[in-house]
Amino acid sequence: MITYNDGLFTITTDSFTYQMKKDAFGHLLHLYYGSPIEGDASSLLSLRDRGFSAVPYEAGLDRSYSYDYLPLEVSVLGDGDFRTPGIIIEQEDGTLSASFRYLCHRIYKGGALLEGLPCGRIDDGESLEITLKEDLSGAELILTYTAKDSSLLRGMKLVAKDKKITLKKALYSMDTIAMDQDVIWFDGRHCSERNKKRAHIDTSTLTFSSRRGATSHQMNNSFILCSHETTEDHGEAVLLSLLWSGSFTFFAEKDQYDSVRCGLGAGSEFFSYDLKNQELVLPQLLLTYSPNGLGDLSVKNNRFVTNYIRRKMTGGLKNPVLLNNWEATYFDFNGDKLISIAKEAKNLGCDLFVLDDGWFGKRNDDYSSLGDWFENRDKLGMSLDELSARIKSLGIGFGLWVEPEMVSEDSDLYRKHPEWALAVPGKAPTRGRHQLVLDLSNREVVEYIKNTLDDLINRGNLDFMKWDYNRFITDFHSSVTLPGRIEYDYIKGLYSIFEYLGNKHPSLLIEGCSGGGGRFDLGMLYYTPQSWLSDDTDAIERIDIEFGSSYIYPISSFGSHVSAVPNHQTKRVTPLFTRSSVAMLGSYGLELDPTKLSEEEKAEIRREIKEYKELCPIIKDGDFYRLLNTPDASCCLSISEDKKDGVLIAVRRLSHGNPKDHYVRLKGLDNKTLYRLGDKVFYGSFLMNYGLLLPFTYSEDLEAIRVRIKAL
Ligand code: GLA
Repeated sequence: MITYNDGLFTITTDSFTYQMKKDAFGHLLHLYYGSPIEGDASSLLSLRDRGFSAVPYEAGLDRSYSYDYLPLEVSVLGDGDFRTPGIIIEQEDGTLSASFRYLCHRIYKGGALLEGLPCGRIDDGESLEITLKEDLSGAELILTYTAKDSSLLRGMKLVAKDKKITLKKALYSMDTIAMDQDVIWFDGRHCSERNKKRAHIDTSTLTFSSRRGATSHQMNNSFILCSHETTEDHGEAVLLSLLWSGSFTFFAEKDQYDSVRCGLGAGSEFFSYDLKNQELVLPQLLLTYSPNGLGDLSVKNNRFVTNYIRRKMTGGLKNPVLLNNWEATYFDFNGDKLISIAKEAKNLGCDLFVLDDGWFGKRNDDYSSLGDWFENRDKLGMSLDELSARIKSLGIGFGLWVEPEMVSEDSDLYRKHPEWALAVPGKAPTRGRHQLVLDLSNREVVEYIKNTLDDLINRGNLDFMKWDYNRFITDFHSSVTLPGRIEYDYIKGLYSIFEYLGNKHPSLLIEGCSGGGGRFDLGMLYYTPQSWLSDDTDAIERIDIEFGSSYIYPISSFGSHVSAVPNHQTKRVTPLFTRSSVAMLGSYGLELDPTKLSEEEKAEIRREIKEYKELCPIIKDGDFYRLLNTPDASCCLSISEDKKDGVLIAVRRLSHGNPKDHYVRLKGLDNKTLYRLGDKVFYGSFLMNYGLLLPFTYSEDLEAIRVRIKAL
């Protein structure tokens, strides 16, 4: 429910209350965000003379009122607040000053729909829209709030009038009155994404960002604010996650009175967007709240993402188990070899064969041909249509790898259109994997990509596309777009391609990828319901990547494959059952050459694929709980929403002589229900409060166990 009463805006669901107040001068104060409350939360504001804090002119002789310590909904540089600002506006004459005041508001049914940007697909919720007007330029800032279940979607749009303004920073702020808080972030590197880290917020400002033009492996655009005492099972926590796939900035700091401010939004130092009689819609921010610890927070958030953000496929292959040939062949293949791999994949029970890099232009290594999305007939020994038809005649779907945002200097496309690559005139561009980035802020380029891919999908009769992105942007200069607009316009161009392809080919499943999980975010999940999780396919390393990612995203969005041993990244030899069990925590697939497997291995993989298909509804629609993650062992549980059917997966990561036992307490079950686990029967209350001895056999290294949990 959303109410407005005498300047007080209150958004309440069964799970939280979010409250703001219009003050006497029209500024919007942020009062409260937490478990549901009744009443006006401004009673915590203490008004007294604060030395050296600026006072608004309208306050007259009253020195007790200052935006330097009051909690604000919109924090702006140059309006008497010395804390880190969320918004910086440069006026036409270069002055860094702005002041936003209440103009009007409306409350309406349904969600806030954003044209050309990802947004919550909410029809039955309620939204609040508040319009603020800027004193100097007359520009309007329109804030939107859509509440549903435990989540709140915030939106921001800046509408410039006939005075030019430049938006130099555009972050959502969250102010909290004097509370000890921690921030959790997810950092990493190529092959090691989303490591969970935590720090106490204090007076030195913590800043995390990506200025890479994409979300990045190095820093995810989701953060958790929680009380200092919050654990996996107890305490308040809020997840903030941007529906955005480009550069971003986050900061968190404590002010002089111990109140916490944090900010999160699109754009880095490269962002500077000038507007005159124009508007800019900023990406939405998802907030999810839980009073019951990080485990409950991720369950709630993942339900919301599954129901309202992640793309739902209407046709095409349903949860296909795929085989991808990348680690099987790398660039070394021809059509016949691919067909024999696809045939064996079908024999094993796969639904889809995905042909990875190296099928186009004259690409036999990563030095050429990006941009030339035409099959290499000499290499394949046949046309794309023929290859596709022959693979499909085996009774298996067909998918292709593409990297449409990139161009190789050694390509026909670059020779024809060098101006389509982002590069700074007079300066040699940097190369990444020996390639340049196309200028997706240029409509001509976007049109070219749309048409080329549309044609490719038709010619290849594609069921699936793996959309890769293998370097980041360094040279923010375009032949058509002002430099400060590129970060934003590039991503809008990218989204417009997804919109176009989604409308034209609704049953085409697109898997996101960026050297693994370098652009894993809610913006991408809105268009590409799954994403290759990491280029590290080692099962033991992937447990951490899966666990880290599960704080933010549903596990079924993780592209997860069983690869060969010794593993190509770590050289580790892990039992097939363990590799498969870890891959089951995601959208399952194979990343190996099935023609090289022994008959015994083939039989085991066949059994595993069958079992995955049985477990798939739980993995896809159930709740995921992390139960244990230590250097010794990891254990997790996926349980259907009706709490009747689940699977527990545990892996011993380190072997010891005379090992200790491992116990876990289960979560998410029904106390009074009897569950069958193998040949034993337990009440839910027993498993959740007393626990379970993990039935490891200790008979092999890197052992995994899978325990099916079924309500009687
Ligand atoms: C990236 C992807 C891999 C593979 C290669 C192909 O690194 O993450 O899975 O597709 O590109 O070049």
